[in-house]
Amino acid sequence: MRCVLRLTVAVRSLCWFTGRTASMAAPSVHRARSRQGGHKPTRLLACVAIATAAWQTTQTFAASIPAVEPVVLGRVLFEKQWQEFDAGSYTGDGLGPMFNARSCVACHNQGGVGGSGSKANNVELLCLVPTSQITRIDRRSFVAVVARVHSGFVVNATTALPTITFHKSSTHPAYANLRGAIVARLDRKSGSKGWMRLRRFERRTPSLFGAGLIDAIPPDVLRETARLQAQSGGANGQVPPASDGSVGKFGWRGQTSSLERFVQGACANELGLHVPSASQPRDPLDMSATDPGLDLNEQQCAALTAFVASLPAPAQRVPHDETARQSVASGQRTFERIGCAACHPAQLGPVRGMYSDLLLHDMGPELADPAGPNLPGQTGMTSMRDATKYYGGTTDVFVAVPPESQRMWRTPPLWDLDGSGPYLHDGRARTLDQAIRAHGGDARGARSKYAALSSTKRLELLIYLYGLGVPPGAPRVAANLE
Ligand code: HEC
Ligand code: HEC
Repeated sequence: MRCVLRLTVAVRSLCWFTGRTASMAAPSVHRARSRQGGHKPTRLLACVAIATAAWQTTQTFAASIPAVEPVVLGRVLFEKQWQEFDAGSYTGDGLGPMFNARSCVACHNQGGVGGSGSKANNVELLCLVPTSQITRIDRRSFVAVVARVHSGFVVNATTALPTITFHKSSTHPAYANLRGAIVARLDRKSGSKGWMRLRRFERRTPSLFGAGLIDAIPPDVLRETARLQAQSGGANGQVPPASDGSVGKFGWRGQTSSLERFVQGACANELGLHVPSASQPRDPLDMSATDPGLDLNEQQCAALTAFVASLPAPAQRVPHDETARQSVASGQRTFERIGCAACHPAQLGPVRGMYSDLLLHDMGPELADPAGPNLPGQTGMTSMRDATKYYGGTTDVFVAVPPESQRMWRTPPLWDLDGSGPYLHDGRARTLDQAIRAHGGDARGARSKYAALSSTKRLELLIYLYGLGVPPGAPRVAANLE
């Protein structure tokens, strides 16, 4: 961890020396580097030398030096404002066709580059919600009905997804009309038989500080933590199943196994960039349009991931004043005593001060929503044995997300609470007090104990939680952020 911090400090000075600009396109960095003798390359070389010297004095292995460059390129890519047909695209069409913002930092910016996002930066999901648990369907006509709502749901003539990103913007000028029409019909029955509703749900932008440390936690740590919880009959956490079948560690549902996968998924879903492991979402108004190629290549994606992984981990602020320090310590003891630490343990595997077990917990019906990560076998269209058929056989059905899955959320790390609100998966809680009082399901007991605390004890607990915050070394956001 100290390594990461030092590296970031070195990189920050490097960025400062090179006169970094937020709009600099990645390939133009390559070009600037290959053109010898220019003003910037000379400064850049001097900076690499300085950063390298700093690195060498603190680390004995010179082999780590090349790692400085991907992190620098990664930051440029994180802050880059993408345009349609961007000259900086590798061989693709740049921004879009579907996008939620023009850059990563447009959403991840509270407290520094890589921080959480305000509620205005929430990502919207559009969801097909059947009104009964299992609905018989004719696959082709089902897909045809759904396609008339938003063709992004359609995988092929006989398959549709139950949840898609409801993009805020598109490079297609007519998308605003389509989006307006969908918003107008939200919550109205969409099928002619009234068996399906169209609903919209939101996800809040979490901070990425310390993401590299989370990425490095071995999956066995999560399995062992879940085993111990099951044994003690306490918090009852489940290991999140990732969409690739392995252990999930990222996302509000713990749906993604590695930082690299999440970063590439974000490029595609949020910015409409075609990357090696994910195609850009198609234009619902022009499903036959061809995608010209990669917007970022493997190396550029690796650099972006390296930058995110290099972001410093949040740190606890300890007050100088002795009385205040005692209140914080008392708040921490309360946090442990009333059962918060069962799901929010201070340490998980090798990572200290994160306050999460990264497991999924039943948080009760109030926090439930059916917008899932489309895990195979968990939701959507399938075939079932049909007992009503005389000769046996199967019937096509649409299966609703089971209520217990709708209530499952990954415990979010609490290490960045100060400055990262609003809180909870959709940002519904403006304050920490509201977030804690919204806990239900397996956290009901802890919530009741919280509600029963004396006002002094509750205040101490909140002061302790507000002391967990954004790292002082977080890269600063450019003032001209759109
Ligand atoms: C429109 C806002 C928005 C933009 C733009 C955006 N993100 Fe995110 N990011 C989110 C939201 C919302 C989530 C939570 C999604 C979920 O869990 O379903 C998220 C989650 C993440 C996570 C997982 C963090 C965790 O601990 O679970 C990573 C990593 C990430 N984003 C990286 C990026 C990168 C890299 C970019 C740029 C390519 C980017 N994001 C662009 C909103 C955004
Ligand atoms: C059974 C497990 C469990 C227990 C016990 C628990 N939490 Fe949580 N906590 C969660 C989960 C899961 C979420 C995310 C829920 C959501 O977003 O819908 C969460 C969210 C939070 C958040 C919001 C974080 C954010 O970034 O949005 C805070 C603050 C919090 N918990 C504090 C506490 C405190 C304080 C206690 C003790 C009174 C506690 N929790 C007990 C599982 C738990």
